[in-house]
Amino acid sequence: MRTGRPGPVIAVDGPAGAGKSTLARLLAAELGLLYIDTGAMYRAVALGALEAGIPLGDEEALARLVRACDIRLVPQPDGRPRVELDGRDVTGRLRAPEVTRAAAQVARHPEVRARLVELQRAMAEAGGAVVEGRDIGTEVLPEADVKFFVTASLAERAARRYRQLRRQGAATTYDEVRKELAERDALDETREVGPLVRAEGAIVVDTTGATVERSLARMREHVLRALGPRAAGRARPGRAGGRPGDGRPG
Ligand code: DC
Repeated sequence: MRTGRPGPVIAVDGPAGAGKSTLARLLAAELGLLYIDTGAMYRAVALGALEAGIPLGDEEALARLVRACDIRLVPQPDGRPRVELDGRDVTGRLRAPEVTRAAAQVARHPEVRARLVELQRAMAEAGGAVVEGRDIGTEVLPEADVKFFVTASLAERAARRYRQLRRQGAATTYDEVRKELAERDALDETREVGPLVRAEGAIVVDTTGATVERSLARMREHVLRALGPRAAGRARPGRAGGRPGDGRPG
């Protein structure tokens, strides 16, 4: 365990659609920790790039953008942080398909990653946090107290995403959703910097066929075992929200 930091740091990595946002957010609420959704930061940069008409392959221009912009994750009572880009609330725009696609492109650039990783470390180390992403346990916070790798079969992840999109009224098919997820997996896994790989020592939580409650219970058990009274002392069961400060959405 690390010393000299004010609170525990828990890393939650895994592929798109595995349920990590929900689990990370609920775990953070239970432990009274800040929830940091690093994917939302890549999405915010992608939105900024689309708005400014910056080509998604132009690393220099993207690096300038990410250095100049102000990205904030503001915790909300329901635990889903509000994302602000240069003072504007952009939360509702980050899940649009074009932003999702652009985020995967933007996330390939080492200079963009370097700046966001810096911000993510500063946020997590300020007071302890549950930090969700792809490279948290490997690159961002390799000294995290507990590391999880949340995964599920491609078929299950696609089925969940498809149901969610249909509920939102999107015109799509299961096959389309599955193809898009497989493409995002490939981009995540083949990235030269910060690729999606299971960190050494990370506990695998396979959510295929599992309820949220069951997966969350497994994670809670691991955290309590790893941190002992340090986690129990902070736990606030049923509290829906992270600590006030900096944070973001799921
Ligand atoms: O988790 P998400 O779908 O909101 O992530 C959006 C994009 O950002 C996705 O293409 C993966 C990428 N990402 C990343 O490269 N590193 C992270 N730590 C988090 C997300």
